[in-house]
Amino acid sequence: MNKETTLEDFLENQDPEVAEIVDAVAGQSIPIRHEIPHRRGDAGTQNIYGEDQKALDVWVNDLLTHKLIETNSVYQVVSEENPKPILNPGGEGEYTVAMDPLDGSSNVKSNNLFGTIIGVYKSRNPAEKGRKQVAAFYKLYGPMITIVLATEDGVYEFAKARKTHKKYFLINEQLRFPEPPKLYGVGGNPKKWVPEFRYFVDLLRDRGLKNRYGGSFVGDFNQVLKYGGFFGYPALLDKPRGKLRLVFEGNPMSFIAEKAGGLGSTGAQNILDIEPREMDERIPIYIGNMELISELEKLFTVCKDAREQY
Ligand code: AHG
Ligand code: MN
Ligand code: MN
Repeated sequence: MNKETTLEDFLENQDPEVAEIVDAVAGQSIPIRHEIPHRRGDAGTQNIYGEDQKALDVWVNDLLTHKLIETNSVYQVVSEENPKPILNPGGEGEYTVAMDPLDGSSNVKSNNLFGTIIGVYKSRNPAEKGRKQVAAFYKLYGPMITIVLATEDGVYEFAKARKTHKKYFLINEQLRFPEPPKLYGVGGNPKKWVPEFRYFVDLLRDRGLKNRYGGSFVGDFNQVLKYGGFFGYPALLDKPRGKLRLVFEGNPMSFIAEKAGGLGSTGAQNILDIEPREMDERIPIYIGNMELISELEKLFTVCKDAREQY
């Protein structure tokens, strides 16, 4: 593909419903970008996790839910900001969209990176395994507005163009996690990391990987995808399931990671193979270069086996 391929050109070769879904989200970037300065505070409401919603969480969630349902390809939208699935009123559509409408919303206050995470399923079941996704993408609000889109045949990155151009144009294709890995980013209070995880992070440091953590999964993942390395929001001593959500964050990002030659794991299993038990399920997430994630899984297994000897 030539570098001036637009998102529209690219989507012409995709499943028409997937194209409609990507376009519905891509088309809202400027209205969302312009709204940010006017919705910096709290909404005064809570989401399904009992977390205080930011005004922008709610506004982006309602806007994107509406635009997605309007496509008529979408049977339902499940979102971390909606207590239950929002169904297509006419019962149309064969696709389910799982959405984190605003990932990294605590970064709005500090004007740091945040974005939107989308998983696409050709199914009316709201809680399919992540492996059943047909596409996944995230939009990143940074100096550029970019979309990183994983389809069956690889990972592509598009940048929002100048006003005079069509919406987005291709800046990277067949993205793969680079080797050797250069960065690691880890959430949670290090005092609450389990000992074997602390040992693993020390290993990364000893190998010269640089610490980059910015407080949004999309922003931190994007750095690892570009420079190679590891991102984790780990199990914590007081929160063994960690913080991030299986359906709205883990599955879409693990689909993208796998299409880029990497891996998303709970430390015990591939995230994409988890049968979701409830929509708001949280999981520990370790994601990035295949070798590093596999090394962590082996370390966790050895420690578990050693403990179970007696
Ligand atoms: P969200 O804004 O959708 O709730 O997601 C925030 C998540 C994730 O984006 C990020 O990796 C993590 O929370 C940051 O958590 P800390 O603020 O505890 O570092
Ligand atoms: Mn969110
Ligand atoms: Mn999030």
